[in-house]
Amino acid sequence: MTLLVTGGAGFIGANFVLDWLASSDEPVINLDKLTYAGNPETLASLQGDARHRLVQGDIGDSALVSRLLAEHRPRAVLNFAAESHVDRSIHGPGEFIETNVVGTFRLLESVRGHWSALPEAEQAAFRFLHVSTDEVYGSLAKEDPAFTEHHRYEPNSPYSASKAASDHLVRAWHHTYGLPVLTTNCSNNYGPYHFPEKLIPLMIVNALAGKPLPVYGDGMQIRDWLYVKDHCSAIRRVLQAGRVGETYNVGGWNEKPNIEIVQTICRLLDEMRPKAQGSYASQITHVTDRPGHDRRYAIDARKLEAELGWTPAETFETGIRKTVTWYLDNPEWVQHVQSGAYRDWVNKHYNAS
Ligand code: NAD
Ligand code: TYD
Repeated sequence: MTLLVTGGAGFIGANFVLDWLASSDEPVINLDKLTYAGNPETLASLQGDARHRLVQGDIGDSALVSRLLAEHRPRAVLNFAAESHVDRSIHGPGEFIETNVVGTFRLLESVRGHWSALPEAEQAAFRFLHVSTDEVYGSLAKEDPAFTEHHRYEPNSPYSASKAASDHLVRAWHHTYGLPVLTTNCSNNYGPYHFPEKLIPLMIVNALAGKPLPVYGDGMQIRDWLYVKDHCSAIRRVLQAGRVGETYNVGGWNEKPNIEIVQTICRLLDEMRPKAQGSYASQITHVTDRPGHDRRYAIDARKLEAELGWTPAETFETGIRKTVTWYLDNPEWVQHVQSGAYRDWVNKHYNAS
């Protein structure tokens, strides 16, 4: 038995692969294009491990994907591969359409070709698990109930629109062709190996470098935070027991305004790595808001809990402490991802705002 994981050198995919191989001997074929967000260094502990093979390639490369499927005959494909950063999608949506929409379409077609030729028993056991986001549901008002799986799709950014499109394709490949799919829609993740363009790692890295902590607008936008390893355990559970064709919302009931997140990070750093003088909070700077910025996301994860018995292991307090500790303990990883490409992005995005 084998898994084919796509995007397994990125933040969540790599955490998934590391956690999977820590508790299972089932091999993983890891197909990743190694864009700026893909980092083989995250998988360094798997070097020489026969259970893991990293293949550099595109989910849209039908010949490559078909070859990998024929060669390894995975029992499941888990699709993490995507362009994932909202701000980048605003500056340049093209890659988001290419990978998240066209790439997912091509991947589905390659998988369908392989799956439809399998013997009946293998066809029935096969799964295509698509990893998606709560952002497809759009933005909530303060008093609205959290997103359930029945909330209408109202994506507002090029990123969320491209993920919404991919979710629709996955759904259609099930309804039309019978492909045994599962979809998970998760809230914002945080934890180890998170690329420092996203809020939490950016704030930790900037704080330690003595740089401004750029809070968009009033900082009162709300996100629902889940420790990445809890997302990975939810995906394992859905793969194991999810009902084919269903979607499952994944979240930990941890809604927080951005400014509170930044203040919490500053407080933890003040405790663990105090500055010679004053608090890291003095570096907080309010900058121009993101265009079309969604005000609030919140996930209702009751279906996953009731049907599959999944609950998160971390609270926000335990998870954020682990995360800050990880960044303090791994300065080389951070230094290595801050390549020329990363610096170009920071200059382009933050110097313009
Ligand atoms: P990431 O940007 O850290 O990693 C994406 C990975 O996909 C990278 O390794 C990249 O090299 C790879 N990739 C990109 N284009 C590819 C292509 N065409 N073919 C093969 N590989 C390609 O993203 P992440 O935060 O790990 O997110 C993983 C998935 O989870 C995405 O689908 C994202 O939409 C979803 N998601 C993310 C969050 C979050 O908070 N980060 C929350 C919910 C859902
Ligand atoms: P981000 O980590 O980019 O995730 P997403 O946009 O997918 O939710 O951003 C999380 C929140 O933090 C979002 O409301 C935007 C805000 N934010 C800032 O205020 N400053 C920043 O520098 C970044 C990257 C994000």
